[in-house]
Amino acid sequence: MALPGGTSLHLALFLSFLITLPTAHLEDVDHSLYAHTENELRRNILINQLAIQELLRQVKEQKEVSTTCSHPERCCPDPFFPVNEECFFINKEKQNWPTANATCHELDGKLAEPDNVIVLLEVLRQKLNTRNNAWYWLGARKYSHAENWTWPSGRPIKHWHSGQPDQRPAEFCLMITLGKITPVYDYFCDHEYESICEYMDEGI
Ligand SMILES: *[C@@H]1O[C@H](CO)[C@@H](O)[C@H](O)[C@H]1NC(C)=O
Ligand SMILES: *[C@@H]1O[C@H](CO)[C@@H](O)[C@H](O)[C@H]1NC(C)=O
Repeated sequence: MALPGGTSLHLALFLSFLITLPTAHLEDVDHSLYAHTENELRRNILINQLAIQELLRQVKEQKEVSTTCSHPERCCPDPFFPVNEECFFINKEKQNWPTANATCHELDGKLAEPDNVIVLLEVLRQKLNTRNNAWYWLGARKYSHAENWTWPSGRPIKHWHSGQPDQRPAEFCLMITLGKITPVYDYFCDHEYESICEYMDEGI
């Protein structure tokens, strides 16, 4: 019984040895070193992505047990914190807008559409203990210059920084900075920033 299995295993090992053996040449050394580094980089990125997915999974599982409540009685599932009637979460992974949106959805949220940007901003400044120019994606996005800026609910967007939206080509995603009194900017959706998620509990 052991013999045929063992034989085919050895054959497979021998064949894979033959396939991988003769490719390295001296003149390839630099190139193969580079490829090695790039592979390691890809591998590290993958490991980090898996770690983030695992964290998100743990966060979702905790959601049923642990909540933070405000007055009057607004309870937010972890990791969200209450601001008046709303629940927010600071996603500290720097991601482009579509990825940040997907991360919020994985947490049963969406990119934030705060009732009041200025109130949220003040809470973020206190929580993060900074008024530096930190930038965060929020939940409004356009697809063309022909569209007017609104929140997904249709409300107009207020508190634009002076000169904003400046509508440079493809500045179609909305962000705020902690460093300005009027904090709202349009910016390039493919750039990577931290973001603010809001818990979605409409209809529950
Ligand atoms: C945000 O992500 C969700 C879930 O992946 C997706 O259904 C939705 O279309 C995205 N929103 C935008 C504006 O891209
Ligand atoms: C955008 O707003 C302007 C000014 O209020 C209005 O005239 C125009 O019809 C709006 N465009 C769209 C696509 O809603």
